[in-house]
Amino acid sequence: MKIGFYDSGIGGLSVLHEAYHQLPEEEYLFYADTDHVPYGTKEKEEILGFARESVNFLVEQGVDAVVIACNTATSVAVEILRQEYSLPIVSMEPAVKPAVEHADHGRILVIATPVTLREAKLKNLIDRVDERHQVDLLPMPELVRFAETEKFSGDEVLHYLEDRFKQVDTSKYSTLVLGCTHFNYFKDLYRQFFPGNIQLMDGNYGTVRHLAHRLGIERRKDSERIIFTTRSEMLRNTVYFASGRKVEDPGMLEHFRRLHNRLEDMREIQ
Ligand code: DGL
Repeated sequence: MKIGFYDSGIGGLSVLHEAYHQLPEEEYLFYADTDHVPYGTKEKEEILGFARESVNFLVEQGVDAVVIACNTATSVAVEILRQEYSLPIVSMEPAVKPAVEHADHGRILVIATPVTLREAKLKNLIDRVDERHQVDLLPMPELVRFAETEKFSGDEVLHYLEDRFKQVDTSKYSTLVLGCTHFNYFKDLYRQFFPGNIQLMDGNYGTVRHLAHRLGIERRKDSERIIFTTRSEMLRNTVYFASGRKVEDPGMLEHFRRLHNRLEDMREIQ
């Protein structure tokens, strides 16, 4: 099947990367709306316009399904887009439900973009599942900019994280929910800001599982996960687009390859 993945930028690669593991035989299109990233600090109507344009582009390429690999675009646009298109549109939401099921009585911190955190979609989800009032929210918009510029370590990133996590009492939390697909690139950094043994949770695994279910395709079992023999294999089966322009520049493709390498390393960290 031909599956279109869409994000404001490179965050969605983390979901695509998970699809490479679970659904290695499919054909992929990846659309990064690089002209308009970041979304998370923009107005709702503007994001809806970008999402419409991006999804429309993928539909015109003849995809069998679209994955909105972006929590922010999902929160403002998915309900509307599902009314406008008949093909399956699979979307992301912060993994609050699995976090609540898993966290027992521990507190849960959800980090995401300001738009995702203030939209009704997340509020409704929390109202539905957070019966014990365990969930707190913390916006982290700058991580999107760091990811887009491949800044995954160094003082600037660490100071930012330190400054943001200082806003909460980190000793209270047992679970950190990564509610933005760009945040997976920093999985090796979060733990140092929490005194306890924090569990990291993102929605990527569940989203790909749901995609497979929607399309009736069989997933590779966890026990027989694909081992990429060479890391350059990771770009196979995929055509990349930057806001509708096919990415052919070798430097840009090399950039995507590096990002998949990083995501492969981050995948082990839970
Ligand atoms: N990757 C996106 C998300 O999952 C949004 C990042 C942004 O453009 O602000 O929310």
